[in-house]
Amino acid sequence: MMRTHTNGELRREHENLEVQLVGWVSKRRDFGKIVFIDLRDRTGITQIVFDQEEAHNLKSEYLISVKGKVTLRKDPNPKLKTGEIEVIGEELELINKSRQTPLLIQDETDALEETRLKYRYLDLRRPIMQDRLFKRAQITKEMRRYLDDEGFIEVETPMLTKSTPEGSREYLVPSRVHEGEFYALAQSPQIFKQLLMISGFERYYQIARCFRDEDLRADRQLDFTQVDIEASFLTEQEFQTYLEKMMIRVFNNVLDRELEAPFKRLTFFDALDKYGTDKPDLRFNHQLVTLNEIFKESEFKVFQGDVSIKGLVMENAANSTRREIDGYTDLVKKYGAKGLVTLKYQEGTLSGPAAKFLSDEEMTNLISTLNLKDNDLISIVADEWETACNALGALRLHFRDKYDLIEDKEAFEFVWIVDFPMFEEDPETGHLVARHHPFTRPQITDIKELDEKPLELLAHAYDLVLNGFEVAGGSMRIYDGDMQAKFFELIGFTPEEIKNRFGFFIDAFDYGTPPHGGIAFGLDRLAMVLTHSDSIRDVIAFPKNASARDPLTNAPTPVTDKQLDELHLKIKKD
Ligand code: AMO
Ligand code: AMP
Repeated sequence: MMRTHTNGELRREHENLEVQLVGWVSKRRDFGKIVFIDLRDRTGITQIVFDQEEAHNLKSEYLISVKGKVTLRKDPNPKLKTGEIEVIGEELELINKSRQTPLLIQDETDALEETRLKYRYLDLRRPIMQDRLFKRAQITKEMRRYLDDEGFIEVETPMLTKSTPEGSREYLVPSRVHEGEFYALAQSPQIFKQLLMISGFERYYQIARCFRDEDLRADRQLDFTQVDIEASFLTEQEFQTYLEKMMIRVFNNVLDRELEAPFKRLTFFDALDKYGTDKPDLRFNHQLVTLNEIFKESEFKVFQGDVSIKGLVMENAANSTRREIDGYTDLVKKYGAKGLVTLKYQEGTLSGPAAKFLSDEEMTNLISTLNLKDNDLISIVADEWETACNALGALRLHFRDKYDLIEDKEAFEFVWIVDFPMFEEDPETGHLVARHHPFTRPQITDIKELDEKPLELLAHAYDLVLNGFEVAGGSMRIYDGDMQAKFFELIGFTPEEIKNRFGFFIDAFDYGTPPHGGIAFGLDRLAMVLTHSDSIRDVIAFPKNASARDPLTNAPTPVTDKQLDELHLKIKKD
């Protein structure tokens, strides 16, 4: 037997027991005659007391085995689960030495992310990282159990597949056997899960790896995991109720917390109009206001013409410095706004660079409509509606962090975002593109409506947002082959392309396709929010860094000419 107990296990009732433990030396305090060792494994820490000579040679992260006797501590340590006892070491065996670690194995770290990722196996020894990965595994387990209990069947679908029109850039894999031909790595199992509905499985799920060649952010990875779900014969509302119950179960069993259902709902329009984003953080209020009515006869050229004039009030911010305000202006410009009007409300008057363009009546209206209080700062953007909303939405989040606007740090605020527009225009080409993906059912009764005013159509699409992160996205699907073909046509595929690329999919619709719909949870993102992590990389064992590299293995790397030859490839040197 290697051990009788783990290091998180021993309590008062084990007094006088002879035990054998293994673990890493987390800390050594040397008092000359006796040496205290904090012995760590994945379950916790046990304090060992040695008077043996060899104990003086132990160093951090040495792996040892200890035989000894459990005794009660004179001064219990309330910070440790095992804080009431210690083990008097009788035998000590060194199993393996360790070099000095390039980062400290403790929760707090000031190690650079590059170092943490290069020595990820050591970074993952830190208890906080182990906690996060344990929690992630629990989340997955609870979702899986729930779906199993509700009759969803787990089916695996291919990763090496065919290019699909879902919108993200794909990874291509050259075929050795078929010269000049490529697989695409699945960006999601979308087409296959729909085909499984046509096959009659009715309820499917999969913990699926997805691959997208995206620019990385704190909540994005190149390969990530979805809890992918699809169901037939459920209405949108019924389906969402299942998903809410699944979240309730996860919160109960993983976080020991209750959730209220049904979750809040916001239309895409309201989310943008009030919070400036389609993934609003509802842990604090601070809504955007529409000011067009007040400025309908404005002399100020910025407020004239066909623009949306949106405002955001921040209390106690009228003392912002010039530099801070320049910073806010730069921020809204990053989101496409042409500028930012700021007004300070102090001692009953509004002041600011643009104040001279405002009439007395406009000022009075502004003060009463916005119900201004002394020291409020008003930020205003006038632009195309979505741009104005997005720009102030970004400023709203900036204020959240700067002024610490979230009172309840433990709050979890779910909200469904519904009624997304079906299409948007590609700003570069002016072509229609699907906002969700081209399998989403439009809110129409007649296929003809697709042609009439496509930009005004709404979709049966929904996102689940938690604390400002899109943790899941899905839709009810088109289940009519003609409509699906029409849809591909609208987003710019020729009939020839449709036949070559998605012919197999459209053909399948001819065989009694059931009404169906689904969703995919971003498991990494969900785990990130539930563990209060700042980055998705903290809940992924071996992630890529911000420049799409894995500092541990150093991937991606060049390959040999022989490998390239086999794949019929040549590297183009620019
Ligand atoms: P969508 O593209 O919205 O939908 O993805 C679903 C969820 O996956 C997560 N996600 C990501 N997580 C980490 N890194 C990424 N690069 C990344 N991209 C997406 C998000 C998102 O909400 N097939 C559809 C789902 C459906 O319609 O059923 C799909 O993939 O949390
Ligand atoms: P300009 O006349 O472009 O110098 O702008 C005058 C002021 O209005 C500056 O403070 C700009 O930041 C601001 N501004 C310009 N365009 C907009 C806009 N679309 N929305 C809000 N403020 C703007």
